[in-house]
Amino acid sequence: MLYLDSKFMEVALPIIEHKEYQQMRYIKHHDESVFEHSMKVAYRAYQIAYKRNLDWKSTIRGALLHDFFLYKFKKCFSLRIITDSIKHTIVHPIIAFENAVKYFELNKKEENIIKGHMFPFGFPKSREAWIVSFVDKYIAVFEYSSNFKKMLFGKQPAFQSE
Ligand SMILES: [Fe+2]
Ligand SMILES: [Fe+2]
Repeated sequence: MLYLDSKFMEVALPIIEHKEYQQMRYIKHHDESVFEHSMKVAYRAYQIAYKRNLDWKSTIRGALLHDFFLYKFKKCFSLRIITDSIKHTIVHPIIAFENAVKYFELNKKEENIIKGHMFPFGFPKSREAWIVSFVDKYIAVFEYSSNFKKMLFGKQPAFQSE
């Protein structure tokens, strides 16, 4: 359990308790909030990095901040969604990084974890950055499929982002 892991929480707490970071609880992403998504990515990436004796602290911090874009991304059935989605895909790692450096001090590895997580639109330069990029995509697939199931069974309007 993520919240019971003291090593993880010790590194994560200064970020997740921050007032600006808490805003991510109210921004929908895939099937849940950006906060929940980022916590899941950070925890899974941390478990992998820790097992491999890598820089798990930077992995947690970079992963927590990889989607720190702080804007609501509306999705609805229209042609605009294609251009908006492409724009968001390319630009949000840069926006996340710009927001992150306003509130937190980042090392070079954490910077690249954020900027490079949308491979092939960004390029991960460390094993930790590759782990976060991979875990992010892996978790996103489950979140999208859960969202799709809810759409099919009518528990939530299709592709509603707020
Ligand atoms: Fe992202
Ligand atoms: Fe993500």
